[in-house]
Amino acid sequence: MQVAASYAEWDALRDLSAAVRNDGTLLRHDAEMPGFTYWEAFAANGTFATKAAATVVTDAVAPWAQGQETVRVLDVGCGSATFGLLLAQRVPQARIVALDWPDVLVHTRARVERMGLTDRVRFLDGDVFTVPLDGPYEVVVVANLLAQLSPSRARTLLRRLAAVTAPGGRIVFAGFTVGDEPPAASAGAHLLSLLMLAWTRSGEVGSTARYQTLIAESGFSVGKVYQVPGLPVRVIVAERENG
Ligand SMILES: C[S@@+](CC[C@H](N)C(=O)[O-])C[C@H]1O[C@@H](n2cnc3c(N)ncnc32)[C@H](O)[C@@H]1O
Repeated sequence: MQVAASYAEWDALRDLSAAVRNDGTLLRHDAEMPGFTYWEAFAANGTFATKAAATVVTDAVAPWAQGQETVRVLDVGCGSATFGLLLAQRVPQARIVALDWPDVLVHTRARVERMGLTDRVRFLDGDVFTVPLDGPYEVVVVANLLAQLSPSRARTLLRRLAAVTAPGGRIVFAGFTVGDEPPAASAGAHLLSLLMLAWTRSGEVGSTARYQTLIAESGFSVGKVYQVPGLPVRVIVAERENG
């Protein structure tokens, strides 16, 4: 198995105590950099949670998007681009911009070709923090990415995304979140947070309330929260405010 219980993950957790003492990764080539091969495997294979969360996103956003004349979708840190592609299948006028590092987009591109959606998808390679994002977009998806970032880096990214979201457009967050329940009741989300400690400089899995606040502070409305059935994964959909 190459993702979700892979050797790459077990190896990272083997060094967890050192990461705890260091308050962040000891890797010289960490998960925030291009060429982190685990993200290639992640894009090629997806995980048990990807399709479930993408289905919740599509159900939440498609009824609104179907009524829009133009639906430009930016899938940020897209990996397999499952989020953008499921939406494209449901919303015929949707056009997707799939943004990730070039080594990951090799796998995204192969998937898009297999699905026969090449004429609906454009690929944008580079760093989500610096690459020109073009836009505006009616829908911006940031799925399973903010956990890799500190709250302040996540806020910087969300503000950058707000600047390219059309007024009245939607930002969509999807990802594992921790709640008020004890860690054992939500082991998957806490385990992912430990993995982020071992793999990133300052990432951790936040609470749903933290993500809602970050989104609202970045120029969007207070987001509506959707639970992905059976998983500690939430989807938050918020509207870009005018002005
Ligand atoms: C956990 S994966 C999520 C992939 C996809 N959104 C999903 O939910 O299936 C995180 C993705 O973000 C990408 N990524 C992380 N930091 C990035 C950055 N600074 N610039 C571009 N892509 C980045 C990684 O390459 C990886 O494909």
